[in-house]
Amino acid sequence: MDKRSLVSISQLTKDEILQLISDAAFFEAHPNQHLLDGKVIATLFFEPSTRTRLSFETAVNRLGGRVIGFSDAATTSSSKGETLKDTIKMVSNYVDLIIMRHYLEGAALYATEVSPVPIINAGDGANQHPSQTMLDLFSIYKTQGRLDNLNITLVGDLKYGRTVHSLIMAMYHFNPTFNFIACDELKMPVEYKIFCDQHGIKYTESRDFGPEIINNTDILYMTRVQRERFTDLDEYERVKNIYTLRNAMLADSRPNLRILHPLPRVGEINPDVDDNPKAYYFNQAQNGLYARQAIICKVLGIDLTQLKNSAK
Ligand code: CP
Repeated sequence: MDKRSLVSISQLTKDEILQLISDAAFFEAHPNQHLLDGKVIATLFFEPSTRTRLSFETAVNRLGGRVIGFSDAATTSSSKGETLKDTIKMVSNYVDLIIMRHYLEGAALYATEVSPVPIINAGDGANQHPSQTMLDLFSIYKTQGRLDNLNITLVGDLKYGRTVHSLIMAMYHFNPTFNFIACDELKMPVEYKIFCDQHGIKYTESRDFGPEIINNTDILYMTRVQRERFTDLDEYERVKNIYTLRNAMLADSRPNLRILHPLPRVGEINPDVDDNPKAYYFNQAQNGLYARQAIICKVLGIDLTQLKNSAK
C-alpha cells in the first residue's frame, strides 16, 4: 500500500491523530490558504454522499486546488463495465490525489495497490471511514476539552456502521468506555469486540437505551439504520425505528453531553432535539471541512509548521 494513502484510521499513531486535530483547529481559524496551487484532486464517489464529497471539495477549493470527479458512477465508463483498476489507473494519470468512496469493503485498499498517487478512503462499504473519524475526534476534543477517559455511547446500526467501527479503532489510544446499544440484528460485530478485548477497551453491550445509559454518557453517538446495506428489506422494516432519541430523554443528562451523528439522519433523532444546546451534529459536519483540509495536507506531505508559526 502507498504509505501516503489514508485507508484506515488504524494507520495513524496517537501523535499523528493529535497533530491532525491541531491542524484542523488551525484551518478552522485560517481556512483560506494557497497550499494546493497547481494541484488537481479527484473525488470518485461510487456511492451517494452529501457531506463527505462536498466538504472534501470545499477543502480543496479553500486550499487553492482544483477538483475533478463524479458523484454518480452511472455517468462514467464503469457503467460500461470498466473495472475499478482501470478507472483508478486512468484517473491517476490526471491528478495528484484521489479521494474515493466505494460500496465494496476493501476497495480503497485495492485502489492503493494500483494507483501511483495517494488515495483517501471516503468510505468503503461497511468497513472504514477514516476522515469521518478524524472529524468526530476533532468534534469530541472541541466539546469535551480532551479525548481521554470519556464514556461514549454508540446507538443504532453497529453492524454495518463504518463510522462507529473507525471510531472504536481510533479511541483505543484514549482509554474510553463504550456502551454499544443495538438490536440483535445490528449488534457490534465480534471482530470489533475482540479488538476492544485485545486493547483493554472497556465496553458494555445492551438492547436497552434508557436514562441509566444516557445520564452517564459524555458523547452520545447516534447512527442511521442503513437501508442500503440490507439484503432482506423485511428485516430493515422490522429494525429501522427501534431507537429514536427525543429531547425529553436528555432532561437529566450530563452538562457536558454532546450528541453526535455522522448524518444523514432518518428517524433516529427527533427534530425536537435540534434546538437543545447538546445537539452537535451540524457543527460536527462543519468540523469535517477543517479535518479534511488537515488530512489532504498530511497525505500530500505539506508541512504546516512554518504557516502555523507565522500565524501565531
Ligand atoms: N457522514 C457521511 O459520510 O455523510 P455523507 O454520506 O453525506 O457523505
